[in-house]
Amino acid sequence: MKALILSGGNATRLRPITYTSAKQLVPVANKPVLFHAIENVVAAGISDVGIVVGHTKEEIKAAVGDGSRWGVRVTYVEQSAPLGLAHAVLISEPFIGKDRFVLFLGDNFLKGGIRSFVEDFKAGAQNALILLTRVPNPSEMGVAVLEGDRIVRLVEKPKEPPSDLGIVGIYMFDRHIFDAARAIKPSWRNELEITDAIQYLVDKGLDVRAQVIADRWIDTGKKDDMLDVNRVVLADLERRIEGSVTGKSEITGNVVVEADAEIVDSVVRGPAIIGAHSRIVRSYVGPFTSIYHHVTIEDSEIENSIVLEHTEIRDAAGRIDTSLIGRHVRFLRSQRRPSAYSLMLGDHSQVELP
Ligand code: G1P
Repeated sequence: MKALILSGGNATRLRPITYTSAKQLVPVANKPVLFHAIENVVAAGISDVGIVVGHTKEEIKAAVGDGSRWGVRVTYVEQSAPLGLAHAVLISEPFIGKDRFVLFLGDNFLKGGIRSFVEDFKAGAQNALILLTRVPNPSEMGVAVLEGDRIVRLVEKPKEPPSDLGIVGIYMFDRHIFDAARAIKPSWRNELEITDAIQYLVDKGLDVRAQVIADRWIDTGKKDDMLDVNRVVLADLERRIEGSVTGKSEITGNVVVEADAEIVDSVVRGPAIIGAHSRIVRSYVGPFTSIYHHVTIEDSEIENSIVLEHTEIRDAAGRIDTSLIGRHVRFLRSQRRPSAYSLMLGDHSQVELP
């Protein structure tokens, strides 16, 4: 089996973060979402991994490298424009060849991983295995209709969903999917939809099975979903203090303080992670917070948030909560008069004041 991880796309719902960074590289529990996907694939015993990249290709390649860090071989496939998931599959045919493979959307998170599904599919004779999850809002996803464990119909983002079974962005295919991707036409959004390609397999009488997953699945397209994944991953954190903790500091619960991080006169309540070379001074870092590397937080309170590298937060007036803060951000209290909000925010920034 091979794996194909998709890591392109425009990610408009995560602006302004995604103006300067790929959404798949936003860290949850100080590790890019994409790395969680790669680790799922590696844990399933797959060592040949293709990554489809778009306009953020340089950044993705710099972060992932050749895969040797995970003991696998990574091959990059460049997609010139985001023309759909089935298009990404089609251009990856030279990499996949005749192998069976798992298609994993690089912004999807599945707690518990994919090992058992990969083992089932590897051993079986099915042409496709599609993971489904029961959702309250099926109109926002691809939706499947089942007879037993066979898929009989799929619709992409239907106004009137025929079931509550949403299609998770993790699929297993054999080589028939390439013929399907060649046969279908672009959708209204001008994309070759993987949902249509799977419907083609069904219409041709091929064996398309489904498994309804029990584990938590999250598509990290929006801020609150990113924070949700962050909470799920941090919930399993094990305490590890490598950096320094000095003064009247108090570290409770499952907290990771990475090497060369400094906690001075501060309270950190886990689960929380403080990245390398970050400094937390006279501050409170509360549960479900991930502070990436080279961040400074002084005289401030923060919880249930993600802060990216090289950001500085000083003397914040109220507690920062439910926030995703990008790189090189400066969040400071001004001493100037008149006292006022003084902002320089990027396009599509979002500020919510108490
Ligand atoms: C894609 C698929 C959809 C699936 C979803 C899962 O949607 O087209 O069927 O349910 O991923 O994340 P998109 O994210 O392209 O809107």
